[in-house]
Amino acid sequence: MEYTTLGSTGLKVSVAGLGCGGPSRLGMRNDSQSANHAIALVKQAVDLGVNFLDTAQTYGTEPIVGKAIAGTPRERLVISTKKTLPAEDHPDPAGEVVKGLEQSLKLIGTDYIDVYHLHGVEPKDYEFAKNRLMPVMRRLKEQGKIRFIGVTEGFVVDPSHTMLQESLKEKLWDVVMVGFSLLNPSARKNLWPLTKANGTGVLDMFAVRRALSQPERLKEVCGELIQKGRISKNDLDANDPLGFLLRESDAASLPEAAYRFCRHEPGVDVVLTGTGNPAHLKENVTAILKPPLPKVALERLDRLFGGLDSLTGN
Ligand SMILES: NC(=O)c1ccc[n+]([C@@H]2O[C@H](COP(=O)([O-])OP(=O)(O)OC[C@H]3O[C@@H](n4cnc5c(N)ncnc54)[C@H](OP(=O)(O)O)[C@@H]3O)[C@@H](O)[C@H]2O)c1
Repeated sequence: MEYTTLGSTGLKVSVAGLGCGGPSRLGMRNDSQSANHAIALVKQAVDLGVNFLDTAQTYGTEPIVGKAIAGTPRERLVISTKKTLPAEDHPDPAGEVVKGLEQSLKLIGTDYIDVYHLHGVEPKDYEFAKNRLMPVMRRLKEQGKIRFIGVTEGFVVDPSHTMLQESLKEKLWDVVMVGFSLLNPSARKNLWPLTKANGTGVLDMFAVRRALSQPERLKEVCGELIQKGRISKNDLDANDPLGFLLRESDAASLPEAAYRFCRHEPGVDVVLTGTGNPAHLKENVTAILKPPLPKVALERLDRLFGGLDSLTGN
């Protein structure tokens, strides 16, 4: 494993982080896999050198993480979890945040969280998050119950990062979780100048999702881009839109190429990978540790998708 420092937090983190949510939720999304299977996946990640584990109040995987890490010295791990936003008319939103944190601490079996995020903050939520939730987040940090304050964007509704563009100017967060992939690299222009200037730690989500792991979905997504005139049909083979990426690089699969693309993006600290499949986990960690994609492939990707800020890859 390779390690890096998460922004200016000083936290030493593995460049591959385990995402315990997303479409797979460690295989538990549709009850298709057992809790024991999920616990084994987290342990496998830790054995591979992954020390960054990301979960959330809503994923149902906090107790899985808790059981998986029970025998590991706490200081070897960087635990990230998230508070779902209380409703704006909640009578005591700050109290709700404290309650959520206490519950997360209990489920994970720890007495502090390394990075505690406000989860999925959309542009419409920003003023509420800033004015009503940030004071309690700061208090929890002062109390040592959380070490750093994070936010995750609502990427599906905000794929051009408007909430983060605004809030990074106000220097609210120690760490941000950003949607960034070869299909939507808009954070490069919109966010990295701000995160770099602030020393904000950057966690990458949506590296692969459905479009880069399911060929039929990729065809649909690219077909829509061609239909809308965002990409010329002369530039992309509609039947095999990213075939060139495998021909022009040594990547063995699109998920591999997609994780490598994100890993070598200057500005990204940790690439999250979410899976319910132990073989995928091993492949993905291996992919994240491989060298950058060749320049010729990167240049072609940039010509195709470099100017787009609408895709989520879902
Ligand atoms: N707003 C937010 O706060 C937010 C939103 C989304 C995600 N997140 C966090 O970011 C993490 C990463 O996002 P994500 O889980 O969507 O991860 P991702 O790594 O971008 O994509 C995961 C999807 O790709 C598939 N996949 C992974 N590796 C594969 C491989 N080698 N071959 C084929 N398919 C593969 C998985 O299916 P298999 O199970 O079959 O491998 C799953 O469907 C989440 O787990 C979560 O912790 C946060």
